[in-house]
Amino acid sequence: MKAVVWHDVGDIRLEDVTEPKLEHPSDAIVRITGSAICGTDLHFVRGTAPGMRPGTVLGHEAVGVIEELGPQVRGFAVGDRVVIAATIACGRCVYCRAGHYAQCDVANPNGRDAGTAFYGGPASTGPFDGLQAEYARVPYAHTGLVPIPPGVSDEQALMVSDIFPTGWFGARLAEVGDGDVVCVLGAGPVGQLAALSARIQGAGRVLIVDGHPDRLETARLQNAETVDFNTEDPVAVVRELTGGVGADRVIEAVGVDAQRPIGGPAAQHVDDRTAAEFDLERARTAPHARPRGRQWMPGDAPSQALRWAVEMVAKAGTIGIIGYYPPQYTSFPLGVAMNRNLTVQAGNCNHRRYMPGLLSRIASGGADPTSVITQQEGMPTVIEAYEAFDRREPGWTKVALEIAG
Ligand SMILES: NC(=O)c1ccc[n+]([C@@H]2O[C@H](COP(=O)([O-])OP(=O)(O)OC[C@H]3O[C@@H](n4cnc5c(N)ncnc54)[C@H](O)[C@@H]3O)[C@@H](O)[C@H]2O)c1
Ligand SMILES: [Zn+2]
Ligand SMILES: [Zn+2]
Repeated sequence: MKAVVWHDVGDIRLEDVTEPKLEHPSDAIVRITGSAICGTDLHFVRGTAPGMRPGTVLGHEAVGVIEELGPQVRGFAVGDRVVIAATIACGRCVYCRAGHYAQCDVANPNGRDAGTAFYGGPASTGPFDGLQAEYARVPYAHTGLVPIPPGVSDEQALMVSDIFPTGWFGARLAEVGDGDVVCVLGAGPVGQLAALSARIQGAGRVLIVDGHPDRLETARLQNAETVDFNTEDPVAVVRELTGGVGADRVIEAVGVDAQRPIGGPAAQHVDDRTAAEFDLERARTAPHARPRGRQWMPGDAPSQALRWAVEMVAKAGTIGIIGYYPPQYTSFPLGVAMNRNLTVQAGNCNHRRYMPGLLSRIASGGADPTSVITQQEGMPTVIEAYEAFDRREPGWTKVALEIAG
């Protein structure tokens, strides 16, 4: 079957690989009909989330049809339409039973303290072959699969595999409540759906910060108040728009590939010392990065979004961090956070906890996450699509992949 395979930093290929087989009684084999490229995948190719094993199939977002079931999977039948949860969880340990699926004690073969298990990630996350492929093996399928309700399209369900639950989780981590002024850092697909989630969870106003005008415009279409960090200082603007108070809640949806402003007043605040700190953070996090021109270029300011977050939030406010930082990353502006009495919560999404509820909401017309999809590509053009998404070409916000099985 065809699959997107990670070979090295800056080297991914569309290749023929062996089809997966049932390995355990609670496995399912799913024929993938739709997958997607995520900002998380870019970290692996840029080298900012190190530790990938060559030969790993990439991708952790997919919908499909059940092809085969192990004898312990009781709630599904061959032929069912399903969406796959991006994180892998056993569904029976104490963590899963408390809804902390991303901290499952059992699913990660590297041990209970190895961290979140997910598809298409570094060796420390499994590794499990990913979902940018024609078929996938889904371990613990009773937990890893969610039925797609009638009336929900493949495209809508695909957004529930990872990014809509992650946006929802971000708003929960930030403790968004009625009337809150919420600021989302990052207007990528995850940030856009965090903005939508914050609105549904009661936010009075949603501000959003990015350096790409096309992404800000998509956010404005859902009534977010936009801030371009390349022309304005986001901390100053958020304070000005909130009567000097700051945002009650901040959702950080950028991650380790954060960029520094290239113009405007915010760029002037990056003095020589700060620039040197950013360079050191990047050198530590991505020692094997191999950019080719603008392609596969790690972000040049890993802690920039975190620094803005602690400054733009109101005193005693809350920050929810869903942007991805690898375990090697160590830099957080703790002094500012501590002295402003901030609450900071972070994590990998417990997808399974939110997926059924979000699918019901979509089925009843209460939300449509497909507004973030800008491209529908097929497997033959998948590598070019990765490259355009990586360069953040105007108009390339979220790439959905149609997989012809
Ligand atoms: N916690 C989780 O479970 C989880 C799940 C999915 C994705 N993620 C992570 O969420 C992050 C966003 O994912 P995505 O798919 O939207 O990625 P993306 O790369 O498409 O979006 C990131 C956005 O941040 C913007 N940005 C860069 N520097 C910035 C700065 N200093 N301030 C504000 N914005 C800045 C970029 O212009 C871009 O639009 C990634 O780190 C991804 O790995 C986490
Ligand atoms: Zn994803
Ligand atoms: Zn578990």
